[in-house]
Amino acid sequence: MNAYDLIRSRRSVRAFEPRPLPREAVARCLEAAVWAPNHGLTQPWRFAVLGGAALRELAALSSTLEARQPPDPGQDAAGPLQQAAAAVAVWQAEAPDARTGAADRLAVAAAVQNLLLCAWDEGWAGTWLGGPLLSDPAVRRLVRAPGGDDLAAVLALGWPAEVPPLRPRRRLAELTRWVWDEA
Ligand SMILES: Cc1cc2nc3c(=O)[nH]c(=O)nc-3n(C[C@H](O)[C@H](O)[C@H](O)COP(=O)(O)O)c2cc1C
Repeated sequence: MNAYDLIRSRRSVRAFEPRPLPREAVARCLEAAVWAPNHGLTQPWRFAVLGGAALRELAALSSTLEARQPPDPGQDAAGPLQQAAAAVAVWQAEAPDARTGAADRLAVAAAVQNLLLCAWDEGWAGTWLGGPLLSDPAVRRLVRAPGGDDLAAVLALGWPAEVPPLRPRRRLAELTRWVWDEA
């Protein structure tokens, strides 16, 4: 698939088949994630890959959090995590100052997108999960992330059981001003 097709066809998938993911393919996606741009080559991304009992614990923590604070419809994290074959938690390393930290946050988001695109290219899929999961101390302990900023993402990964319909984007003309004189 070329880059345009890959980017446009990717979907956030929340229903997965009960089928394991090859560990080496997950590792391949992580290897690709770290080629994201990062200012000053800070390489600020940190990952924890969860499967088996750790994944079940993450799903249980997520259910507890959502019982306390119900998410918007279709935006829950517990459902996808209960079905996922693996999860990847992503956070950023501590930065020496706020400016570096802000740039690092953007770099981490770019790495997450790389990972999601590679997962899609492998034939499986992921959803970027947010909400209370990202700031919960028990989740942080489970993935052994040091204190500091919230996690950037938890990705639920697996073989898609159901691919949701395309969610159309606004027209580019509404969003873009070309400041490009031909003279
Ligand atoms: C920062 C962030 C947090 C998100 N949190 C959730 C979430 O908690 N649960 C969920 O189901 N989807 C979550 N999503 C996925 C979006 O809902 C999804 O990208 C959006 O609906 C567009 O669909 P698409 O990715 O299939 O194009 C999140 C996405 C981002 C970037």
